[in-house]
This record gives sequence, C-alpha cells and structure tokens, in this order.
Amino acid sequence: MVSSLESLRGSSRHGIGFSSSAEPHLASVTTSSTSYRALCRRDINMGHNHNTNNVDIIDIGGGRLKDSLRNMLIARMLDPTKQCVLPSALLSDDHGAMLWTKINRLPDYYQTRDEIALLEVHGKEIADVIPPDCLLIDIGCGDTRKVLPLLVHLDRIKKPVHYYGLDLSLPALQSTLSQLATHNFSHITLHGLWGTFDDAIHFVPTLSPPSTSSYPSPPSSPSCSPGSAPAPAQPPRWFLSLGSILGNDFPEPATKILSRWTALLRPDPTPTPANGPTTTTGDRILLGMDSTTSPTLLWASYHDPQNLFEQFMRNGLQHSNRVLGVNWYRPEDWDVVGVMSTKYVMHQFMFRAKRDVRCEAPGPGPGPGGVVKIEFPKGHEIDCYEAFKFGPEEMGEQFRGAGVREVGRWKAPGSSGIYEYLLCRDTTSQQVNGES
Ligand SMILES: C[S@@+](CC[C@H](N)C(=O)[O-])C[C@H]1O[C@@H](n2cnc3c(N)ncnc32)[C@H](O)[C@@H]1O
Repeated sequence: MVSSLESLRGSSRHGIGFSSSAEPHLASVTTSSTSYRALCRRDINMGHNHNTNNVDIIDIGGGRLKDSLRNMLIARMLDPTKQCVLPSALLSDDHGAMLWTKINRLPDYYQTRDEIALLEVHGKEIADVIPPDCLLIDIGCGDTRKVLPLLVHLDRIKKPVHYYGLDLSLPALQSTLSQLATHNFSHITLHGLWGTFDDAIHFVPTLSPPSTSSYPSPPSSPSCSPGSAPAPAQPPRWFLSLGSILGNDFPEPATKILSRWTALLRPDPTPTPANGPTTTTGDRILLGMDSTTSPTLLWASYHDPQNLFEQFMRNGLQHSNRVLGVNWYRPEDWDVVGVMSTKYVMHQFMFRAKRDVRCEAPGPGPGPGGVVKIEFPKGHEIDCYEAFKFGPEEMGEQFRGAGVREVGRWKAPGSSGIYEYLLCRDTTSQQVNGES
C-alpha cells in the first residue's frame, strides 16, 4: 500500500461520503407489511446451532441487491461530473464481511474495542431507558459484537424487545444471528433485515413485530374517518448506528443523510426534559461516533501490518467487477493510498490509477447505446472509506440540522474518544436542513 499524508480537496468534492447511504432511487417496496412479508419473508431455521431458535430474516431489498449496488456505482463512482466515491455497500460482500470481522479484532483498531467497552459500562443505563416492546433496528449490524452487551443487559432486566439486525450479506447475517441465538435470550426476539439502508428507510414504516406483540400491524393505507377511534399506538423504534455509520461525512452531506433517518422518528407526545435521558415511550437514535484526534492512533488503526484494510478496499473494487459484469478493475493498475485530511480530522483511503483505465460494461447504463462507460485517466482518484472524527460540538451541529435533540450522551471509559449519543425528535424540534 502506498501511504501519504495529504490535505483533502474538500472544496472540489461533490460525492457523498462513504460510510452512510444515499443510494439512488430504488424500486419502492409495497407498503402493506402483510403482503410484503408474504412475498419476502425467509424463515431461516437456525437448527444447526443446536438450539430451537428460529430467526426470521426479512428480505427488504437484498434479493435485488445487485441492481441496487449497480445503481450506486453508476451514480457515485462512474459519474465523470462528480468526485468518484466507492460506495461503502460495495465493501460488504460475503468476503468483505469476513475481512471486516478480522479488522475489528486488530489490536490497534481501538474503535470496536472501545465502543464495546462503552456499551458494557453504560449498557445498563441505556437498557433502562429503552421502552418495553421496543423495536431495536441495528443499521449495519456487522457481526453484532457491539450490540451484544446491550442485549445482555436488556435480557437481564427482563425487558422484552425485538432486535432487528440490518445488513447486506445474507450469509454473514445468517451466521451472525445464528451466533446471537446461542445466547438463548428469554426476552429478546431476534430478526434480520436483508437489504440496504435505503431499503430500510422505505421498509421501516411498515415494520411491526409478529403477532405476539401487544401492538397491531400498521394499516396498509392511512385511514381516517370522523369520529373513529384513535389509531392504536405502534411500538417505539430505536435505531442503533454503532460504529460511526451516521454522522461520518462532510458536515453538509452527513446532516442530510442523518435527516433521512431522523424523519422516521415519530415525535414524542410530550417534550423530553433536556437534563438527560428518562424512561421514555418515544422513538430514538443511538448514534456512536469517534472523536479521536491523535494522528498516531488514527494512522495505526487503519494501517495494520497484515494489510487487512488494503485487502478490504481492494475487495470492494473486485466486487464492483461482478456487479458491473466486466473485469474493469485489475489490482496491478491501482495503488491504495492512505490520506489524513488537515481541514477536518479524517482519515480516508483512495485508489489512484497507475495507468489509463478505460472499458465498457454491458448495459443498462447512461452511456451511448445504453452501456456503462468506465474512464479513469492515469492519476485518477477514487475515494473510499472515509473516517471522520467529530466531537460533541460538531455532532451537535449535525443534530440541530437534522431536527433532533440530544437527550443522552455516554463516553467510552479511559481516554477513548468514542461517544454514544441518544437523539429524539419532539414537537419542539425543527428540521432545518433535511431532505424530507
Ligand atoms: C463500519 S461497519 C459497522 C458494523 C457494526 N455496526 C459495528 O459497529 O461493528 C458498517 C456496516 O454497515 C454495513 N453497510 C454499509 N453500507 C451499507 C448499506 N448501504 N446498507 C446496509 N448496510 C450497509 C456494512 O456491511 C457493515 O456491516
């Protein structure tokens, strides 16, 4: 891997950052949860784990993942008018998920270790404010090592919740939920959501747990007639964004992406006091973010002796070959470069072309004749894996812009810069910078 310290060309950048999703338009899912489930639910028997848990994984768009990924590539990596970005979703094929699991166990990769420590130390406090029957939607759940301490605390205090792990690789999701099921929780029901962040944003409003819940399924279309009884309450939803998923971009696009999720939060019936978390019945986002500023720590965490990060990045471009149906990417044509920004505290990887790379992928695409044109001149750069480090002040700006209020904050023990923020939207919150 080639490594260099350079300042970022922030002002010329148009692409949307890596870690969160702003996928192009996808085919919408049916709004009837019942018919959607009938079509898409895959009941996956986890019998091979020698327990009797059945964990259902709902296909919320995973079945058409290749098309979704192709659209993301065309919009964000292959549009010559924009700064090219490899969408993070390309990194997470089955092999990428396996590499990620190895990366987050590296000794210098403090991010995972410290966020787990935070959730071990403060998990009880957080579990206490999660309302019973809550839907915990873990966006980009990975191998679920982080959420585990929280689930253990919830189970210990006998609080019933439905846990939904959302991710892209079906085999990784199956294996991870199967692993989680071996904990034999008595009060946590496990589910999987297979699809993209965009799929989840469309799907979540229709999501309700199976009929065991005291909450009814949402209606397939809104109905309102004068004098009718008020609609029964839906279960509260908590979105978990562990591992700096939301908030991890230049402030403006980060706020826009966050807004797409905060728009899903139903405002609290009564405003939540500003002086810390209280037991609540409302929707929340629990957002983990790193604010570490030490260049030495950051560099060591992304530049491991085994070059796992480089393998992870390169695997993303290999994956793009399969998605686009052409071997446009050849490893020998590209360097992988590590870069630290000076404008923001941020580390990113980029690919740099060692020669002109030009080819065409079969359509459908926006090029002449419906093909996808791939044209990268020598020296061209593709951004990949941006890791911004923002503290409470910068995050506060994003929260205000996305129309949410911070009602809780926890810091990882020791000198770690990892925080967990608890966010709510109440009737007094205003969305000033959101897309929706
Ligand atoms: C940085 S990892 C964090 C994993 C886990 N939450 C943790 O903290 O260890 C990001 C996760 O989000 C998933 N992911 C990335 N882009 C996604 C997308 N567009 N839709 C759904 N999941 C995505 C990846 O597969 C990966 O598991």
